[in-house]
Amino acid sequence: MIVVGLAASPIASASPADDAMSQLNAIMADDAKRQASYEAGHERIRFCGYCHGEDGNSKREYIPNLAAQHPLYLFNQFEKFRDGTREDYVMSKLAKTLSLEERINIAVYYSQQTAKPRTAGNPATVEAGEKLFAVRCAGCHGGKAQGFRDMPRLAGQPAEYLGIALRRFKEMDPTKHSTPMIGVAGVLSESEIEALSGYLAGQ
Ligand code: HEC
Ligand code: HEC
Repeated sequence: MIVVGLAASPIASASPADDAMSQLNAIMADDAKRQASYEAGHERIRFCGYCHGEDGNSKREYIPNLAAQHPLYLFNQFEKFRDGTREDYVMSKLAKTLSLEERINIAVYYSQQTAKPRTAGNPATVEAGEKLFAVRCAGCHGGKAQGFRDMPRLAGQPAEYLGIALRRFKEMDPTKHSTPMIGVAGVLSESEIEALSGYLAGQ
């Protein structure tokens, strides 16, 4: 499900998700509020840091970076782990233990970090990955894979994680999940997945 934009109209704050969006919007638009939220988020991410890094650059190749991801994307993924749309042994449990305020503060904190590039794959496949990305992916994820709102940043993600994520989309049941990635990933071959992952990791 694509949530369009942070600025939901004020009358649409009926559901808890819309409420969270308007809170997040208000925080990001105000320097003092953003700073307070950032600091509260920093207090809360000690445990997350063991896996995702204190600066949001993950410590293991199978774990995603959170650095420089849009707060809206980070927040939406917590909701997916909470409601079971997305499942992971650790994350599904963790997401349920965080309050709404904590989820917002953590999303703000990690969104302000800088993502560092990883080691790219071998040059020949990287070139193929770059071409494929420009044609099939850049329209949504941005020309430099920097992401935009709920379209995640892919630049600098570990290649192993990118591969895991793409294969997961490929195997998803489209009747139970609504994300454009099911259609996109469904037509990718294993060698295309490797080329794309190798290219993106080095960005
Ligand atoms: C034991 C390691 C571990 C810990 C601790 C952990 N995570 Fe994760 N996290 C993961 C893994 C692995 C994934 C990828 C799961 C998947 O493939 O769906 C993930 C995914 C995520 C995602 C989705 C990122 C994306 O790119 O889609 C977010 C957001 C996230 N974690 C936030 C947190 C926060 C906040 C905490 C602390 C409260 C935390 N994680 C603690 C391992 C961990
Ligand atoms: C129509 C828009 C669209 C196109 C085209 C698209 N994506 Fe995505 N992609 C998304 C959205 C939206 C998400 C967030 C998925 C979700 O949680 O529903 C996403 C998520 C992802 C993720 C998971 C990121 C993470 O941190 O877990 C990867 C990896 C990814 N896309 C790779 C690609 C690649 C590679 C291509 C080109 C072959 C591509 N995407 C093309 C919209 C798109």
